[in-house]
Amino acid sequence: MKALGFTQFGAPEVFEELELETPKASEKGVVIKVLAAGVNPYDALLRAGVMQKIRPLGFPIVPGSDVVGEITEVGSKVKNYAVGDIVIGHPSIGGYGEYVATPSYNIVKKPEEMSIEEAAGLSSVGITAYYALQVANVKKGETLIIQGASGAVGAIAVQIAKEKGIKVIGIASSKNADYVSALGADRVVAYDRDNVAEMLADKADVVLDASFGGKGAAKGLAYVKKGGRYISLTAVPEHAEDKKVTAVRLKRTKDMKDKEALGYLADLYRSHKLQLKTAEVLTFDLRGVIGAHQLIDKKKVAGKLILK
Ligand SMILES: NC(=O)c1ccc[n+]([C@@H]2O[C@H](COP(=O)([O-])OP(=O)(O)OC[C@H]3O[C@@H](n4cnc5c(N)ncnc54)[C@H](OP(=O)(O)O)[C@@H]3O)[C@@H](O)[C@H]2O)c1
Repeated sequence: MKALGFTQFGAPEVFEELELETPKASEKGVVIKVLAAGVNPYDALLRAGVMQKIRPLGFPIVPGSDVVGEITEVGSKVKNYAVGDIVIGHPSIGGYGEYVATPSYNIVKKPEEMSIEEAAGLSSVGITAYYALQVANVKKGETLIIQGASGAVGAIAVQIAKEKGIKVIGIASSKNADYVSALGADRVVAYDRDNVAEMLADKADVVLDASFGGKGAAKGLAYVKKGGRYISLTAVPEHAEDKKVTAVRLKRTKDMKDKEALGYLADLYRSHKLQLKTAEVLTFDLRGVIGAHQLIDKKKVAGKLILK
C-alpha cells in the first residue's frame, strides 16, 4: 500500500511517498481503508523528531491518529463491526496510510449525516475535550470559563458543556467572538480587546485552559473562585494553592476510553448539538501532506486540516 511518511526528521519536505505492507487486523482489531485523515500539531512534533525522547519510533514513520474510512478486515473476536462499515478511528499512528490497523475499541460508526471531512478531524480534539471536562468534574449550573474557546479543542468543549447545562464563558480573539457565541457560549470575552482580568475576576467554578501552548495560563488563575478547579491541556498556573485552587494538567489514563468519548460525540452530532469546523481540505498525496504540515508549522489554522 501507499503511505505518506518520512525516514528522517525535519521540515515538512521530509515527507515521501512510501510503499509499505498492508497491515493485518489483530484478533480484536480492524483494518480501515482510509478515506480521509486529520492532521494534528502532534504529527508535526513527530515529524520534527521532538517526540523521540517520550515515544521513540523507528523509521519509516507514518503519522496520523485521526481517520475516517471503510472497514476492509475484521479480527476474529470483533463484534458489532463488519466489512464495509464506515467508521471514525483513533489509531495510535499510521493514519496517513492507504490502510491502517487499529483495535476496535478505538472506533465508532460514523453518523450518516456527518461529512467525511468532519469525521476525519474529530478524534483527537473531541476525545481531549470530552475527558478535559470529565476530569474537571464540572456540573450543571456551575460556571466554566474556557480559554481558547475558538480553538479545535475549545470549540468542542463549549458545545459539550452547554449540552450538560453548564454556564460557559468563552475567551477567544475578537475576530472569533461571533463564532464562539454561535457554538452556544453564554458570554464571550476577547483577549485582544476586552479587559479580561477585570471582567472575569473570580467568576469561574472551573477554568479550562485550551489556549494555544497554554498562553492563557498566567492570567487564568485570577478567573477561578477561591477553592475552584483549573484544568489545562498544557501548563498549569503557578501558586494555585494560594487560592486553594485544584490545578491539573490533563493526562490520558487507561480508563479514558476512546470509544466512550467518540460514541458520545457521535450522538451529540446526531442530535444536532455539535458543529465541527474544517479549516482546509488538502489532497491526500505528497503535495497535500507537505502543505498541511507547512500550515501547522505556521500555527495559524482555524479548525481542522484534512487530507482527503
Ligand atoms: N488537538 C489536540 O488533540 C490536543 C490534545 C492535547 C493537547 N493539545 C494542546 O492544547 C492546545 C490547544 O489545542 P488546539 O488544537 O485546540 O489549538 P488551536 O485550534 O490552535 O486553538 C488555540 C486557541 O488558543 C487561543 N489563543 C491563542 N493565543 C491566545 C492568547 N494569547 N490568550 C488566550 N487564548 C489564545 C486561540 O484563540 P484565537 O484563535 O481566537 O486567537 C484558540 O482558541 C495546544 O497547545 C495543543 O498543543 C491539543
